[in-house]
This record gives sequence, C-alpha cells and structure tokens, in this order.
Amino acid sequence: MCGIVGYVGTRQAQDVVVDGLRRLEYRGYDSAGIALVVDGDGDVRIAVAKKAGKLANLEKVIADTPLPASTTGIGHTRWATHGAPNDVNAHPHLGFGRRVALVHNGIIENFAELRERIEADSEQLGLVSETDTEVAAQLLELQLASDVDLTEAMQRVCGQLDGAFTLVAVDAHDPTRVVAARRNSPLVVGIGDGENFLGSDVAAFIEHTREALELGQDQVVTITADSVSITDFHGVPQEGRRYHVDWDLSAAEKEGHDWFMRKEIYEQPRAVADSLLGRRTAEGLLHLDEMRLSDQELRDIDKIIIIACGTSFYAGMVAKYAIEHWCRVPVEVELASEFRYRDPILDYSTLVVAISQSGETADTLQAIRHARTQRSKVLAICNTNGSTIPRESDAVIYTHAGPEIGVASTKGFLTQLVACYLLALYLAQVKGTRFGDEITQVVHELEAIPGHIESVLADDAVVLELAQSLVGATSVLFLGRHAGYPVALEGALKLKELAYLHAEGFAAGELKHGPIALIESGLPVFCVVPPRGRDQLHDKMLSGIQEVRARGARTICLAEEGDDKITPYADVLIRLPAVPVLLQPLVAVVPLQLFACELASLMGHDVDQPRNLAKSVTVE
Ligand code: F6R
Repeated sequence: MCGIVGYVGTRQAQDVVVDGLRRLEYRGYDSAGIALVVDGDGDVRIAVAKKAGKLANLEKVIADTPLPASTTGIGHTRWATHGAPNDVNAHPHLGFGRRVALVHNGIIENFAELRERIEADSEQLGLVSETDTEVAAQLLELQLASDVDLTEAMQRVCGQLDGAFTLVAVDAHDPTRVVAARRNSPLVVGIGDGENFLGSDVAAFIEHTREALELGQDQVVTITADSVSITDFHGVPQEGRRYHVDWDLSAAEKEGHDWFMRKEIYEQPRAVADSLLGRRTAEGLLHLDEMRLSDQELRDIDKIIIIACGTSFYAGMVAKYAIEHWCRVPVEVELASEFRYRDPILDYSTLVVAISQSGETADTLQAIRHARTQRSKVLAICNTNGSTIPRESDAVIYTHAGPEIGVASTKGFLTQLVACYLLALYLAQVKGTRFGDEITQVVHELEAIPGHIESVLADDAVVLELAQSLVGATSVLFLGRHAGYPVALEGALKLKELAYLHAEGFAAGELKHGPIALIESGLPVFCVVPPRGRDQLHDKMLSGIQEVRARGARTICLAEEGDDKITPYADVLIRLPAVPVLLQPLVAVVPLQLFACELASLMGHDVDQPRNLAKSVTVE
C-alpha cells in the first residue's frame, strides 16, 4: 500500500526519490508524485509534480517540465484509499500556504472530524482534494504557524490522528530536514554517508546504502544530511534498531527477465535452499535461530492457530496437514481478517502462528495483537527483516526468499512452506512425537526440493504451450486433495489476480456436492494428482478426474513421473518429480505460478502490477 521515499544529502533529490519510487512502485501504482525543497538564492519554496497513473506518467511530466535543483525531497506512489486515483488526489499534498508538503501511507480514521474542524476555522484553509492526507498537511502547517519546527509540529499532529499512517513531510522554511512518523504502517531509515534516506522498505534506498534503522511504533524521525534523531509522539528521545540489509541491488532488479514475477519463479530453487540453510546442528538436530520460545513453552502447547491472508493463508493450510501429522497437535487455520471478530478461544497454551511475506499486512497484525492480549504466544513466519509483524511477535522464523517485488507472491509462498515444515519438524523434535531419524529423513527430502524445482522449471515448455492454447478462456477450475487442495486454491488465486479470469479451486471430493454443475464442454480443469504412495488419495482423485472428463472438461493433470494410471485421462500432462505427499505443494505449485504468469503476459496484462492490487496491504 503506497510507497514512500524521503531524502536529504548532496545529490539531486529528484533522481534519488524517483529511483526509490521505481523500486517501490509494486506497493501501489494509482498515481505518483514528488516534492522538493528548492533554495533559489534565499527564496526557499516547495516545487511539486504529481500525476495519476503509473510512475512513467510522472517521469514524463518531469521530463517535459524539469523541477529545479534540490538536495531535499520526498516522493510517493499511491494505492488509493480516500478519493479517486486522479492528479488532484495524488500525493504530495500541500498546506494552505504551500509551506508544507506531505506524503502518507495508511488511513487517518478521524479525518472527517478533523476536516470539519479545519473547514469551520477558515475558508482560507479550503481543501482541494478528497484525501485524508491533505487534512494532515493542513494541520502541520497550522502547527508551524505557531512557531514550532517541523519535528515538533509532526509530534503534535500525530497526537491528533487516529488510524494507521506513515507520514513524511518537508518544510519550505527548513531545507535541511525531512521529518516522518509512523503508527501501524511501515517506515525504515537508510543510513548513508553525508546523506540519509527514508523508505516504506529498504528497496527505496538499497542502491545507496545497506545500513538501515528500524523504527518502533508511534515514533517521529527527523533526518538531515548527517543526523538521524527519533522521538515518540510526546518528544521523548527514542532509539532505533540498526541492521545490515543482507541483499543488494541486483536482488531488486529484473536481471534480464521481463517481469519480476517470472524472475522470482525461476529464483525459487535458490530461495528454498537459502531458507533451509543453517537449520541443523553438527549433531543433526534441527535448530531455528530466531525461535525465542523455550522448549518447555513449546511442549506446553496444546493447540495451534495459524493466521494469514491470501497466499500466505494457503501456506497455513499446508502447514496444518504437516503439523497435525508429525506433531499430533490440533491446528486451526484462520483468515487473519476474520480472526478477532469471532471471539476465538485462546490462552497461554495456544500457539498462534502468523504467516506474512511482507510483515506489514494490517489484518494479520491486528490478529496478532488480539492473540497477545489473550496471553497466547505468537510466532511469526516472515520474509522481511525489520517489519512490524516479527517485531510484535514473541518468536520468528525468517524465510530467506530475498525481496519479493512481483505483486503476486511466488517465492514468498514456497519459502513460507519451507518454514512451516521446519516448524512442524522442530515441534516434533521437541515434543518427541517423531524419532530423530524420521525427522532427518524429511529434512533430507526437503534438501532435495531445490533440485526438483529446477527440473520442473526446465520442463516449462508444456506450460508455455498450454498458456498459449488457453488465451481466450473465460473460466478455469483447479482440483486438489489433501495438501494438493491449498495448491488448487493458490493456482486459482494466481489466475484471478494476474489474468482477471474466473478461476476457482475445489477440494476434489467436494465436486460432486455442487461444483460439478459448472463443468461443461471444453472447460479447462487443472487436477493436482497426489503421489501414488498415497493410493487411496490417488485413486479417489483419479475418479474425480474421470467424472469431470465424462462431462466434457479438458483435464490438465499434474502428476508425478511414472504415474501411468493417469495418462489416459489427461488431455495435458504436466509431470512432477516424485516427492512425499506432504511436500508435494513445493513442486506442484510451480507450474501453476508459471502458467498464470505466462497467460497474463500473453493477454497483455501487467504481470507485476495487476489492476487494483498492491503488494503489501497495510490497511484493514
Ligand atoms: C497473492 C498475494 C496476497 C498475499 C496476502 C498476504 O499473490 O500475494 O494474497 O499473500 O496479501 O500478504 P503477506 O504475506 O505479505 O501478509
């Protein structure tokens, strides 16, 4: 949701800010804008350019009408909440005297009340946009008029705001500083040499520095070219947590691929291998670095609730199969957005596992907070160091996918699965529900997965051909059983979000209870076939495939190598490496990701920036 950049230093701020916005554009692409503090021989003012649509539109505006030179600036790429995505509603927003420029991510919930208060005060303060942000800009400017500096003005304004926000502002009277604040919305500081940066995430400044500072909740940060100072909303000094970003610029670039998503799909063997690295001691025991829960706390757990959204929720569904099978602990999987509204039964013996690639999803964050108020321990599975969700959890398992920039999650999902398996095996080790050699055997099978994914990717021709043949399809179904059911749901989600097609995933056994009525001649139906090792599952799936085929469906079967029983019933056969049923999602989802990417691409859609979506959803 919205990308934010701030810069003070010695370079041209316009270049730094626009480059940062380009790397953050995956967070929102409804409009973009930039504000610079321009010092023209003592006449200091704010220059603004903003434009609806993608960043390229703003770049064209700046190319046609160049902005003046400046070394202090802020920028924004928007995912609209309040007000349509047009030029007027684009950020930055100015105060009534053009002294302040402000960009914002999040929602100011009491904006209507604040707006009424401002409009009642004076007509001069008339607001021009429909945004909640402009209200905050006006409030800042009112504070500055009472002779405080921008830092203090920000502290005072934040005290009046309800909701979730990251705010970043500049003041025309002080070209040396950029001031920002955060509550329930992401913001990190990039520490440079004679320059400093602000960003919604480190991608904003990774080209210039890999030293970052994590901010806490309800904090205001002021950056100048050579200082960073942090306070709370009352002005009390605070400390940030400094960390080194362990990936570099190349990870945030496409490296020859036309889409980030395609690059990220092909990166999955490495991402899975990295997520498995360093998880075993010399004695062969599993250990999880950042697991801040003691063995006794883990032994005391008698129920697990997994909370997550979207693709991460499907990773949670797979985790349920693995944890219940290996650890014999009951697991519930719940959509984070529903969790706290149903008054869930929680106590100290319930472990809540929150899965989030971005670490910023508001629904998941609020569910975590609710769980902690009920005395449950929360373990986060997260890909983003420095993000809010791991910070607010009792324990964390980091996935090591590297930055995921394509809006549709791919390597994020696979590495979440790996983290879930590791958690399940670790629990089994601690609780003694599996023998050591059984755990070691599964770890070996996991270690073989990167090679298996490589072979699936090497065999991509059949998927590419299939995508070509399905341009023009209007509806696609996905069937799976057991751990293949979440894979079917994920295949359908990928197709919806990228190709804008009607796509639905079903548990194959449910078909006859209703959905089979959807089957008509030529309807493409993907079938994720369980490995033959699970005969009952496999044969039941086979019956389901025969049933849809008998009604005219075009069956596209994903089945393991050597599974000849399936051949007569598959119009298209996608071969998968032979792996145990619980691990099959790691290989079975890959052709489905690739298929959605290719089909959307052939249909002329923007695969990395699908309509109406944004990468990290920081509003509820
Ligand atoms: C789908 C997708 C989303 C996310 C969901 C949760 O491709 O990316 O469904 O999985 O918004 O996001 P995180 O994992 O960042 O909490």
